[in-house]
Amino acid sequence: VERTLVLVKPDGVRRGLSGEILRRIEAKGYTLAAVELQHATTEVLAQHYAEHEGKPFYAPLVEFMLSGPVLAVVAEGQGVIAGFRSLAGATDPTAAAPGTIRGDLGRDWGLKVQQNLVHGSDSTESAEREIGLWFPNL
Ligand code: GTP
Ligand code: MG
Repeated sequence: VERTLVLVKPDGVRRGLSGEILRRIEAKGYTLAAVELQHATTEVLAQHYAEHEGKPFYAPLVEFMLSGPVLAVVAEGQGVIAGFRSLAGATDPTAAAPGTIRGDLGRDWGLKVQQNLVHGSDSTESAEREIGLWFPNL
């Protein structure tokens, strides 16, 4: 069955939105296969965000992801990779449509990095790679 890696980023955990985000995943009909509060490491983040290395927002992004615990989640179900991206909404929370996690719960806080509450894998290849990174024993 298809699986995706979801992260409730440090802003989501800090704001107490972990439950609300898990609720939306379950309400949509997806299954939670793993849920773990983790403190990210620079090693895991360097691999997780390898595609963004060299971009101006890379260093602030890694710093933000280290600023507090993240809730790492494996969600499963047919179509869950695209389905969760759709639940999450556009990367920029100001532009994200109402009804989405970022559109309903996120905003621009005037910071260096878009704090947009969640991450979701963007393809089957990244999903398998990212699940292996965050849940090496799964
Ligand atoms: P993820 O699910 O977190 O991967 O978000 P995404 O796939 O919608 O965005 P992408 O992978 O392109 O970027 C990863 C993260 O980097 C985003 O979630 C933002 O936190 C941050 N980011 C991406 N693009 C920008 C940008 O143009 N400016 C800033 N400041 N941050 C960005
Ligand atoms: Mg991405």
